[in-house]
Amino acid sequence: MTFDQWTRLVLDRVESALDHYLPAADVQPAPLHDAMRYAVLGGGKRVRPLLCHAAGELTGATPEALDAAACALEMIHVYSLVHDDMPCMDDDDMRRGKPTVHVKYDEPTALLVGDALQSQAFITLTSDVVDAPRQASLVRELALASGSIGMAGGQAIDLASVGHSLTREQLETMHRLKTGALLRASVRMGAVAGETPSADTLAALDKYAAAVGLAFQVVDDILDVTADSATLGKTAGKDAKDGKPTYVSIIGLDASRALAQQLRADAHAALEPFGARAQRLAELADLVVNRVS
Ligand code: IPE
Ligand code: IPE
Ligand code: MG
Ligand code: MG
Ligand code: MG
Repeated sequence: MTFDQWTRLVLDRVESALDHYLPAADVQPAPLHDAMRYAVLGGGKRVRPLLCHAAGELTGATPEALDAAACALEMIHVYSLVHDDMPCMDDDDMRRGKPTVHVKYDEPTALLVGDALQSQAFITLTSDVVDAPRQASLVRELALASGSIGMAGGQAIDLASVGHSLTREQLETMHRLKTGALLRASVRMGAVAGETPSADTLAALDKYAAAVGLAFQVVDDILDVTADSATLGKTAGKDAKDGKPTYVSIIGLDASRALAQQLRADAHAALEPFGARAQRLAELADLVVNRVS
């Protein structure tokens, strides 16, 4: 199977699973469920679900277990995007090529869509597709990655940094938390959904995920400067306008591009112990670094 065929297969599975794990639009309160589905379905690159499925292939996880973990990850990610776009945070009106949730609906709805998606993620993870000990591990991984020492903590640093110039270390910490933590969890959760991974396997996957996670946000910072809004599906040029410290603002565009390529090489090196079994993860590292949106 080519990488494109594999990607298409996973994306189709994940889209159906998201439809299944989200409450139907006619379940009361219907306006909230309609808005949750608007935010989640039919858009986004689904990088976290792809990483989860690719990692799960290494530990023999069932496709059903990986779908549940992938959907939970995507729900947390979309919740973070819905809140990130609100006027009290980045104040953006376009996301995934559509009006943001608070623009299409209203601010209270956007707040509640995020809240409800966070809960829905854990409802999804505790459906009966994996056994109880695995569920507990998956819940803990996702909670750690999304909370105050993960995504939410990174967002707090991001907001507190507007207008300040961070050191390179501070910037890396912010990026590792706000974006890297959930990407790392995507890889770990895929692995944990299958046969219990050895400490060595998890350590190698962590190295890979640390590189890919940081690369992802470095590229996001680059694209904010180099891509246009139509390609991105979100407003380009927003970081400079808002005075956000980014890799581009701190080390410049060329050094940011070089860093992304270095991280891609680091990700590949971390996968060496797995040989051809990690082909999909290797291809995903390339996708993350070479993407244009
Ligand atoms: C955007 O994430 C926000 C960041 C964490 C940088 P993605 O670039 O994965 O957004 P979608 O899911 O494809 O819309
Ligand atoms: C958002 O980072 C990270 C999270 C949503 C956790 P950004 O603010 O850079 O994401 P975009 O550029 O709006 O997608
Ligand atoms: Mg932001
Ligand atoms: Mg933003
Ligand atoms: Mg950005």
